[in-house]
Amino acid sequence: MTSKNKLRRKALTGAALAAALTASGTASAQSKATSGMPLSDEVVRARADALIAQMTPEEKAGQITQYFDFTDSPEEAKRVTDEMAASRAGSLLFVHDPAELDRLQHIAVEKTRLKIPLLFGYDVIHGLRTIMPVPIAVAASWDPGVAQQAQTVAAREARAVGIHWAFAPNLDIARDPRWGRLIEGAGEDPYLGSAMAAAQVRGFQGSYIGSPGHVISGPKHFAGYGASIGGRDYDEVNLSDSELWNVYLKPFKAAVDAGAGNIMSAYMGVNGVPATGNRWLLTDVLRKTWGFRGFVVTDAGAAHDLLTHGFAASNEDAGVRALQAGVDMEMAPPFGISAFKTLPQSLAAGKITTAQLDDAVRRVLEAKIRMGLFEKPYVDLQAAKRVLADPAHREVARMAAERSAVLLRNEGGALPLSRRALKSIVVIGPLADSARDTVGPWVFDQDDKETVTVLAGIKAEVGSGVKVAYSPGVTLPARVNKSIFQSDEQFAAGKARNVDDTPEIQRAVALAKDADVAVLVLGEGQIMVGENASRSSLDLPGRQQELLDAVIATGKPVVVLLMSARPLDIKGSKPAALMDIWYPGTQGGTAVANLLFGKVSPGGKLPYNWPRNIGQVPLPYAHLTTHQPKTVEERYWNESNTPLYPFGYGLSYSTFAFSNLKVDKAKVARGVAVPVSVDVRNTGSRKADEVAQLYIHQRYGTAARPVRELKGFERLTLEPGETRTVRFTLSPDDLSYWAASTRSFVQDATTFDVYAGNSSTAALGGSFEVAD
Ligand code: NOJ
Repeated sequence: MTSKNKLRRKALTGAALAAALTASGTASAQSKATSGMPLSDEVVRARADALIAQMTPEEKAGQITQYFDFTDSPEEAKRVTDEMAASRAGSLLFVHDPAELDRLQHIAVEKTRLKIPLLFGYDVIHGLRTIMPVPIAVAASWDPGVAQQAQTVAAREARAVGIHWAFAPNLDIARDPRWGRLIEGAGEDPYLGSAMAAAQVRGFQGSYIGSPGHVISGPKHFAGYGASIGGRDYDEVNLSDSELWNVYLKPFKAAVDAGAGNIMSAYMGVNGVPATGNRWLLTDVLRKTWGFRGFVVTDAGAAHDLLTHGFAASNEDAGVRALQAGVDMEMAPPFGISAFKTLPQSLAAGKITTAQLDDAVRRVLEAKIRMGLFEKPYVDLQAAKRVLADPAHREVARMAAERSAVLLRNEGGALPLSRRALKSIVVIGPLADSARDTVGPWVFDQDDKETVTVLAGIKAEVGSGVKVAYSPGVTLPARVNKSIFQSDEQFAAGKARNVDDTPEIQRAVALAKDADVAVLVLGEGQIMVGENASRSSLDLPGRQQELLDAVIATGKPVVVLLMSARPLDIKGSKPAALMDIWYPGTQGGTAVANLLFGKVSPGGKLPYNWPRNIGQVPLPYAHLTTHQPKTVEERYWNESNTPLYPFGYGLSYSTFAFSNLKVDKAKVARGVAVPVSVDVRNTGSRKADEVAQLYIHQRYGTAARPVRELKGFERLTLEPGETRTVRFTLSPDDLSYWAASTRSFVQDATTFDVYAGNSSTAALGGSFEVAD
């Protein structure tokens, strides 16, 4: 017997599994779980129920409790391991070392009374070892195929090391760039957000829950988190039902339709009711209206937070109200008090029923059964090593970064650079050679040594024929308040870095004077975005603006690469070229060099309106027409009301023309789909990508509708001179919306305008009528 078979035997002889199999009466079910076929719902339920029948209330409460396991805190690690060994934890998060995952799983499967394997969850947001561009970047590719591929790789790496569940994708629509978690989502638009949501769920999960090499996907944070007032993380959210249904809930619906196995509830209150105790959201919408069949987990400590919010009366009450709202598993607060631990006493006191507790336990056990954990609980450490080193994963990361970049400005064809025409380049900026910043936030297992920075990418691309000088120019400022994610030492180290930048700015300027072109990599350090990282400004942090202006003043061609997730305000500075490279990931530098030197042409488009300054936010492109529409651009005394760059905007090294917009039918009945087509021609001399975008505007109806709404898009690669006809279908769903007056989705008999082009300001238009 090979050691692998031995492990399998051990797992299969577990008492829990034997009991479950007897109850379900099907041995073939067990082989299906590992043979690449989904198990039937009946089998899964029978196996779960057979286990539930043997569980004590304490074991049930434990099964639906998830603990943080911080291996860097020995006391906490011991507390968690003790809980788990006593069957008081069904899931752990943050364990990521494959050997540790395996060790803990051995304890669960071999030492606990019912031998139920642990479900390991983790923040696999944009890669595990191979780091993909951040999610907002992938959204900017306007290519759901990229999103799916990136998360397929992330899932493969996660599963190989023993992780079963990714807390992703983040589906929070974000219309306020002060909010640092903008980086984790797909931007401001529900249609683009829904396409990215479904693609990511498919990438994580494969074709069914339990697909080999895949993990459960847990879309988050349900729901409305991105609308926190003032862009302040965790702050309250007040959204009309119309905004919820038509904007904020849409990507979640798409994720549920794509089969997401889990949903994470959000921290904050929505219209006064905390999301984690919100029965309307978690039960009425999610389960009853959408038919969600997976399990709901709280965000970390969010059940206990029902107390913090002044909603629950006690920790015990918090557990009861979260469970009864529709939460199935509590992600317990790190180092803190679990609310679900108190469920057995609430059961004894008659505050919850056995059926309520069992429903939650069943959903968690079903996830474990579908994932095949009873059959294959352990980690193959050798295979994990091979998967993490797979060079194909780096290729996906490079391709994703190339497709994500958005070219915002390119005066006189400053880009692409010509290697032959250049003798020297200076690369300037605090982010130009920072491996840690290049991969962005929400990464823990990357290898900084294998991350290609922009400086390294440029050097490798130009070889020895071109002199490459480098100056960081300035340092990035430290946080003014210590973040909960920073240790005292990290915070102090950040403060200590605050140095006088003047000499380095002068050096950078001198280097620029000597170079043929200056490439500046400016933006925000990765610590300035992500969770608990709101900013009250869109300015370049530190003295970067001064650095930029000083380099531009040399008169040398200046290319600015923005490494950021926010639409930063560069105060009207006019570099020759401006490209948003986001946080491009492990292969970022290689991808950026390929873009700079024209091996590939940029084809990404903005997933949000780029405001002129922070005073304009929120500034969604899909706003309503209001009083005095002709003066809409004059609303501010001191500023135009338009964005600097509109949603959907992005340049290419080639040029494109849209023509021949055809709306198949001038008049359709309600409920009938409308085919629309448009011709896209590459009018330049390079093979390049363009994104054909389709927008609608409903002229009148039960409610007022936005001036434009994205309803279709397709990214195309066209040869010079090539024309392609892009075909869209406007479905009845695309023409429907949730109306406050009827409290339902409606499709009006009305007239629609249709626009097609390469941004939300597309001029080519048509129209059609929907009749009763
Ligand atoms: C809190 C964050 O809001 C959530 O997105 C994350 O998945 C959990 N912490 C676990 O790290």
